[in-house]
Amino acid sequence: MSSGSREQSDRRPVTITRLNEMQEANEPITMITAYDFPSAQVIEEVGVEIVLVGDSAANCVLGYDSTVPVGMDEMTMLTKAVRRGLRTPLLVGDLPFGSYEASNELAIASAQRLVKEAGCDAVKLEGGGASVERAAAIIGAGIPVMGHVGLTPQTATALGGMKAQGRTADVAIKVAEDAIALDQAGCFAIVIEAVPQAVAEMFSAKLNAITIGIGAGNRTDGQVLVLHDLVGFNAGHVAKFVKSYADVRGEMKRGVEGYVSEVRSGAFPGPEHVYSVDPSELERLQQRLNREDLGSTFSWDWEPLS
Ligand code: KIV
Repeated sequence: MSSGSREQSDRRPVTITRLNEMQEANEPITMITAYDFPSAQVIEEVGVEIVLVGDSAANCVLGYDSTVPVGMDEMTMLTKAVRRGLRTPLLVGDLPFGSYEASNELAIASAQRLVKEAGCDAVKLEGGGASVERAAAIIGAGIPVMGHVGLTPQTATALGGMKAQGRTADVAIKVAEDAIALDQAGCFAIVIEAVPQAVAEMFSAKLNAITIGIGAGNRTDGQVLVLHDLVGFNAGHVAKFVKSYADVRGEMKRGVEGYVSEVRSGAFPGPEHVYSVDPSELERLQQRLNREDLGSTFSWDWEPLS
């Protein structure tokens, strides 16, 4: 356990009220993505405030080349697995592309599914514009909503690609307008992604909602990173704002290589990995096999390898 963190058993489930107290007290809020049961267990052991089952699952665990193809069935299945591994963090489910844009009814139905079937405490959606009305509708149905502005990967093509947003005043004002509209719609938190720190700071201070930055500097109320980026599990390019704290991919590769090499050399399994049997039982087994004639064309006479 990291120093300063509370004993696991002492921790109480994180509520939005608790997050608001942290925001008020300027205590940094930690948020991490997760997509499976064992990762959720590790996160629970360490203790973070918010876990997001992000649609980044599309890239990180499902092998799609963007977040666009992932659907509700896939997100629900992954979110259920994470739920089983968590007790204390606030669990936020990401509404995937196509699951909320078309109507308020669709948005509410998708959000309800993540809450009822997968056990989420809140849901997240991306963008301003029509998403603001969808967020208000979901909140009206009793489900807390986290917004997401700046670089919104589900609509990255319309933003000119996976690149920083808000580096000109014209784009920055659009990001600020989206954030303010989501704030006024009642979102309890807003993710601000890939926006210059100075810009994020300028409007973050004006919002009631808790601001969670990713590539937006350290003046937001909290930070989020994709789990697979921060533990070094993803291959290839990582964004400028990512910091890797471990080399899980390298460690996993070492493990797989060790196993393959020992199977090939005959070193695994060793004597410590096999079950023993009393020689008298083996003898009885051999007699039974012969007597019961389990294979008339097969000889059961054998000598154990030394
Ligand atoms: O899907 C995701 O992982 C996200 C985070 C980067 C905030 O939206």
